[in-house]
Amino acid sequence: MNQTEQTIKAGAISKQVKDYAREIIKKDVPLLGIAEKIEEKIIKLGGKPAFPTNLSINENTAHHTPIYNDETKASGLLKVDLGVHINGFIADTTFSIDLENIEENKKLIETAQDCLNQAIQAVKENKSLGQIGKAIQDTAEQNNFSPIQNLSGHEIAQWELHAGITIPNYNNNNEQTLKDGTYAIEPFVTAGVGSVYEGKPSGIYQIIKQTNVRDRNAREVLNYIIEEYKTLPFCSRWLVKKFGTRALISLKLIEQAGCLHQFPQLIEKSKKPVAQSEDTLIIRDGKIEVTTG
Ligand code: CO
Repeated sequence: MNQTEQTIKAGAISKQVKDYAREIIKKDVPLLGIAEKIEEKIIKLGGKPAFPTNLSINENTAHHTPIYNDETKASGLLKVDLGVHINGFIADTTFSIDLENIEENKKLIETAQDCLNQAIQAVKENKSLGQIGKAIQDTAEQNNFSPIQNLSGHEIAQWELHAGITIPNYNNNNEQTLKDGTYAIEPFVTAGVGSVYEGKPSGIYQIIKQTNVRDRNAREVLNYIIEEYKTLPFCSRWLVKKFGTRALISLKLIEQAGCLHQFPQLIEKSKKPVAQSEDTLIIRDGKIEVTTG
């Protein structure tokens, strides 16, 4: 398979996994089991998780993945952000689900999807980044919601989830248009102020530097991370699964050696629920294909 075929295959797997996730997610089901089942399904279908499954509830906007002994249960407006990769070629996609039967949650979810559809349409019309952002912002505001302005879509490269270009969720007047490549578009909408702040550490990490760590166990864990995840995000939960809870001590040492970035949880400033929709698309010779939708 060439790059495009691998990217499309990753997307096809993500579609199946989303269908599966919709079946298993019910109110009060533990998030830990949901994340593990989603990640097992990805592997069963021939992919690998491109990042830990993010399960973020209400004002928790992104970068929430269960820790190894998590007891949190599904509730509220739940965003399911999952990634699949084949040989580093990534599909990044999100859907939102209302587990409370609340009208406003449903409207937020519909609006986020509509924002995404309008943004994809703008890409198809070869609009500028600012105009793509405007399509998202206008759609959100027409429904009396705000887009989250300090989160954005992104270019994707092999083994690189966030590469190069960012795709704004509002009109930032950027006149650049998208060249051939792979991109994730991910509008977030809320009835709140429309921005996020950084909360607690998430347990989601990424290698930023490879240096020697002296501790033997930590070295073993670091070598595994480099081998298995390369420059993609991973989580403490995955390492506990592989090495037991001693991985947590190793992770601390690896972090202290300056090898890791730990992502903070992202929380909506006014603590209002947030809905998100995300698809990955590839542009080749001016033709656009949504791989995950
Ligand atoms: Co993304």
